[in-house]
Amino acid sequence: MAMTGVLRPGHAVVRVLDLDESVKFYTDVMGLKETGRDNSGRVYFKCNEEHDHNSFVIRKADSAGLDAFAFKVLNNATLNELEGKLKDYGVTTERVPAGEMLETGERVRFKLPTEHVIELYAQKTDVGNGIGYVNPEAFQQGLKGINPLRMDHCLIYGPDIDANRKLFEEVLGFGMVEHILLEDGKTDLATWLSCGTKAHDIAMVRHGEPAKLHHVSFLLETWEQVLRAADIMSMHRVSIDIGPTRHGVTRGTTIYFFDPSGNRMETFCGGNYWYPDMPPITWTWDEVGAGVFYHDRKLNERFLSVVT
Ligand SMILES: [Fe+2]
Repeated sequence: MAMTGVLRPGHAVVRVLDLDESVKFYTDVMGLKETGRDNSGRVYFKCNEEHDHNSFVIRKADSAGLDAFAFKVLNNATLNELEGKLKDYGVTTERVPAGEMLETGERVRFKLPTEHVIELYAQKTDVGNGIGYVNPEAFQQGLKGINPLRMDHCLIYGPDIDANRKLFEEVLGFGMVEHILLEDGKTDLATWLSCGTKAHDIAMVRHGEPAKLHHVSFLLETWEQVLRAADIMSMHRVSIDIGPTRHGVTRGTTIYFFDPSGNRMETFCGGNYWYPDMPPITWTWDEVGAGVFYHDRKLNERFLSVVT
């Protein structure tokens, strides 16, 4: 098997202010499927095309933001191996027992240098995507809302993104696909990292405060679907941050918008593919506007300052 180690983003756990309002938003507007609720009040969702039980989890709290972002790894042996590597690297890890999250196996939890909580796990119950593994139809019918294919990546904000990148590269086997340099031409403002062949599985922007979420992103199939998502957002009076537009970085088409708690989310499509033999794409400070928003060719202040 060519692909081992960390396979893909697995789940994001996001804090919301009003649970009922948020469930309605993620179900009716986003079109996610609710797959369960647990004793601690967490509500679990999956995208319709995903097989695993959950990829997006919300819980009620006093402030919005990201509790944890998790990656699925190949198997239990890989989980043990990566836990050992993290410890050897000097990272404190914690084992969260199987079943602590619904239909999810044991997790290895640790903090990044930017203080974001990352989890690795190997097992999550396959509840299917509604069309099965044998002679599947093209898609499920009768779905509602924006209906993304999968939860795809997140962008986090924090101080020491250099140490983050080093950990992802040296311990978890990620590679840097693209980066934006600051005015000095040396320091990274932002990096996009991949564990497979996607344009990114996690990205990070240098920021004064630790542990901040910029957005969780959901994949759509086509640019037309991105435009349709904007229509649905307008129908539901969703607060759109920017878009539909295109990123220069990754080349993905995008909409940034806010959930009812102020967490920024993204629906996007397309983007570069990447293999480990490719050098990273570099964006220089004078073209940072086009790197982030390719059509406007300038940053909007909210992109840099509004985080949860
Ligand atoms: Fe994104």
